[in-house]
Amino acid sequence: MSDTPSLRTEFCGLELGSPILNGSGTFDAIAARRVFGDEAVRVGSFPFGGYVSKTITEEARVGNPPFRTWETPAGMINSIGLPNLGLEGFLEAQLPELRELPVPLIVSVMASDRDGFARIIGRLSAAGGIDAFELNVSCPNVHSGLIVGERPEETAGLLDRLRPLTERPLIVKLTPNVASPELIASAAEAGGADAVSLVNTLKATAIDPDSDRPWLGAGSGGLSGPAIRPIALQQVRAVAAEVSIPVVGMGGVTDGQSAYDFIRAGATVVAVGTENFRDPLAGLGVMRGLEEVLREKGVEDLGAIRGNTLS
Ligand SMILES: Cc1cc2nc3c(=O)[nH]c(=O)nc-3n(C[C@H](O)[C@H](O)[C@H](O)COP(=O)(O)O)c2cc1C
Repeated sequence: MSDTPSLRTEFCGLELGSPILNGSGTFDAIAARRVFGDEAVRVGSFPFGGYVSKTITEEARVGNPPFRTWETPAGMINSIGLPNLGLEGFLEAQLPELRELPVPLIVSVMASDRDGFARIIGRLSAAGGIDAFELNVSCPNVHSGLIVGERPEETAGLLDRLRPLTERPLIVKLTPNVASPELIASAAEAGGADAVSLVNTLKATAIDPDSDRPWLGAGSGGLSGPAIRPIALQQVRAVAAEVSIPVVGMGGVTDGQSAYDFIRAGATVVAVGTENFRDPLAGLGVMRGLEEVLREKGVEDLGAIRGNTLS
């Protein structure tokens, strides 16, 4: 057996150097380059095998009023509210730099209706240099996102509308805030999605002990971090058992063992979210930790355990 297990992963036709992505909105590659220099975005030092952008919307958004975060035991609640430059701002100010990253680029998008999604996908496809799209139908902070991601027929309808517009992989990001995410995942698969990713944040709130009122400016937000890992693991397991398309597993991944657990539960790739705020190099740590776990267990190739859903 070789000393270093192979982490190379084929995902939706993309060749990833490692099966570790970032969760959308939790790692700003442009800011990382500005702060840490070009070294941060070189092959070998970039912490992920593929990069997922912050979700972009057609119009620019300033996001929710403060406060926007609250720390919980083993997690955080955020109500950031999708601040972003909007489609044109993204094309001008961010896409050129993101295209230079040494890994495949997945752009996360959201709109309030199918036509809005279609306009964004059409424009981004024409711009080129994007390897895949993630459809955020699950953000708990934007009302329209909940509706699509909560209803199988809405999800299938969205895919029907978008599938003819691009040959690039379409990844549907599922919400955990439903009783049976596997129903939404099946609808996405039936509509032609290439993969599903889960989980987004769980609806949550916090009360300010001084004012006795909700701490977050928006009143509520989404919980993430290790606190949600067991729930995410179960949802990934249930979805992976139901669909044949690859699953991106996330929710509280902090180390090699937690990444390994998601793969054992059926994920093809794993994303690191909240942990990036604690340590911007968390992706590298998870990758090395995963190698270590595989070495200890005598697994030479991820293919040997992937998709091996626990019964
Ligand atoms: C501050 C913050 C911002 C986020 N922004 C987005 C976003 O723009 N789009 C999206 O699909 N998910 C967003 N997420 C959700 C994460 O991508 C991920 O699905 C979730 O946090 C669970 O993973 P984790 O427990 O490892 O953080 C955000 C999460 C956090 C904590």
